[in-house]
Amino acid sequence: MKLILSRDLSNKFLKLIRLLNEGASGESAAAELGVSRVSVWKMVKKLEEWGYTVEKSRKGYRIVSEPDLSPFRASKIVFETQLFQQFVFFKEIDSTNRIARELNEAVVMAEKQIKGRGRLGRYWMSESGGLYFSMALSPGLPVSEVPKLTLTAGVAVAEALSFANAKLKWPNDVLVDGKKVCGILSEVVGEDLRVKVVVGVGINVSNPVPDDVPATNLRQLGYEVGILDVFELVMERFSQRYSQLISGEWERIREKWVELSDTLGRKVKISVAGKSYEGIAVGIDSDGALLIEDGELKRVFSGECFYVK
Ligand code: BTN
Repeated sequence: MKLILSRDLSNKFLKLIRLLNEGASGESAAAELGVSRVSVWKMVKKLEEWGYTVEKSRKGYRIVSEPDLSPFRASKIVFETQLFQQFVFFKEIDSTNRIARELNEAVVMAEKQIKGRGRLGRYWMSESGGLYFSMALSPGLPVSEVPKLTLTAGVAVAEALSFANAKLKWPNDVLVDGKKVCGILSEVVGEDLRVKVVVGVGINVSNPVPDDVPATNLRQLGYEVGILDVFELVMERFSQRYSQLISGEWERIREKWVELSDTLGRKVKISVAGKSYEGIAVGIDSDGALLIEDGELKRVFSGECFYVK
């Protein structure tokens, strides 16, 4: 099941939801929205399809309950950022990143993913209860600057989860108490000078997490937060940090990454393309590379990071 919302359609649904929370006749709702009564009826059907319970009486319609993960509420959060033109929501999909690759200035979200993609070709377990979304962005950056966008997304999530004292493990795992609560997968689409980037974010809210890796969810950590509350916090921080990035204020983001880092100061081993580098992680440079010191200074842009005891 799939729902595609433009800004305009999202506004119409949100207005209808406001009206029906109080209760309204089909006629008055139609007049308020500037659409026909049949359109109102069709929109009510859509609300029901997506988990709203709508009571119907001689007086009209009234919403009696709404789903925890309402795609309409999610769309409000998306469009408030002013970064996107489209929002696509799935009950279930293989991977939101796969769908977002085909779109522009769009956010794709799913209640559940069947083949969630992790970094380095891994599988990302995505049962209901988690936050899974992908943003299709055209930041106007050359491909060499994409690592900065990836780090920016990490900073935004860690800031959004500051209530849990979240930290960043290079390149952009978000950890709480040393365990992973969020993974970010950035994929470059196309080969243009200025590329499109899909940034996929998976946050463990109350979904089951794999037990063979050090991962946890916010519920297990004692935070009873809703998926959309987390989404709202992340999108607020992301739109702010993204604007900084594209207006040339990367240095501020870099400083924040350093402040929130769990990695700097540790002995690390970075595996990338069959090679590995070992040393002390000492910084993030102006290009977004991790700096490793082992007698000489090395720069790494991507790879897997292990902490060495
Ligand atoms: C990682 O391996 O740490 C990255 C995980 C990224 C998972 C998210 S969930 C939403 C988006 N869609 C995907 O298929 N993957 C990303």
